Amino acid sequence: MSSIQQIEGGGEFVAYADPHGPSRNKAAAQAPQASAFEDWRRMLSAVEADVLLVTAPQYLHCEITLAGLEAGLDIYCEKPMAATLADCDAIVSAVSDSNSLFYVGLQLRTVPVFRHAKQLVDSGAVGTPRMLFCRELRAPFIPKVDNWIADESKSGGALVEKNVHHFDLFNWYCGGRASRVQAIGGKALTPEQGSNPGDLIDHAFVLIDYDNGARACLEMCFFCPPFAHELEIIGDNGRRLVTDLEQLKLWDPEHETRRHDVWHYSLAQAHGDRTGWLDFLDCRTSGSHAGASTGRAETGRDSVRVALAAQQSIKTGAAVSVDPHDEHENAT
Ligand SMILES: NC(=O)c1ccc[n+]([C@@H]2O[C@H](COP(=O)([O-])OP(=O)(O)OC[C@H]3O[C@@H](n4cnc5c(N)ncnc54)[C@H](O)[C@@H]3O)[C@@H](O)[C@H]2O)c1
Repeated sequence: MSSIQQIEGGGEFVAYADPHGPSRNKAAAQAPQASAFEDWRRMLSAVEADVLLVTAPQYLHCEITLAGLEAGLDIYCEKPMAATLADCDAIVSAVSDSNSLFYVGLQLRTVPVFRHAKQLVDSGAVGTPRMLFCRELRAPFIPKVDNWIADESKSGGALVEKNVHHFDLFNWYCGGRASRVQAIGGKALTPEQGSNPGDLIDHAFVLIDYDNGARACLEMCFFCPPFAHELEIIGDNGRRLVTDLEQLKLWDPEHETRRHDVWHYSLAQAHGDRTGWLDFLDCRTSGSHAGASTGRAETGRDSVRVALAAQQSIKTGAAVSVDPHDEHENAT
């Protein structure tokens, strides 16, 4: 709320709904002008607004989003778009039947350093992307209201909750659709030792095959603060793009001196809440959302699909075939 309200012309909150008293108190402190509701259904029927922000846990995203679309509101839905594929499919279908703008908060796409990397990729700087790597090292999840995150039926699991961001970047950069996912992972520590809550895994290696020949690898560790976030793309011209959030490097293999171009960024620019909201506002004002909303919903679904396939692979030990147009994954 506060990061949105700090944006000039970013909009004003007229109401919020949350069944949890302390969360409502927090919202009241940040948006004293807004009306408070315990039940989002009552809020939707009582309040006139333009935009609905869906910031409840992901097991509720589908139900709330569908009601918001029905009410004719533009929707900013937090990532992950939903915790299950069935919910993702229901959102895609409802968005395609609606005239509202739909936006899913996969905001790494709006962070300047990752946007710049996309521009370089699209301009042919690495040729055709063939290998993509991402490594995130971080602290375990912080406690959530009612600990919903520890319940996989509500959060979708650790890779759904966190790594849809990275699977989305892979999908975006390589321009293909995931066709097969193989992963290993598990829980190295207990929550008391600094792991994720409940049974949520705390480390994983995820390998993805794309239908256009690209391959991607995610390395994830939840018990290694402080934060590190590294991304690398190698294309068929042998060039390499590397970013660690604070700098973007483009290596040129033809120079024996290992020459590279480098661009610097500040970590403050990596604040996805702000850049994501600005992008959402831009979509609203440019009026370019007609048709694009369904594409955004499909993008949200594709990132969840890879995350769910990776978790399935970790559980079964088998590779998982993924067809973005198919309802069902098959272990192979
Ligand atoms: N884009 C990002 O990088 C990012 C960052 C953090 C969280 N998220 C996403 O935002 C969502 C919320 O995560 P969080 O960290 O804020 O969790 P949280 O537990 O801190 O907050 C969730 C809030 O939703 C409320 N809630 C529960 N049931 C509700 C209902 N029926 N109606 C209305 N509100 C309800 C809870 O009481 C709580 O106040 C999740 O989907 C999460 O993945 C996205």
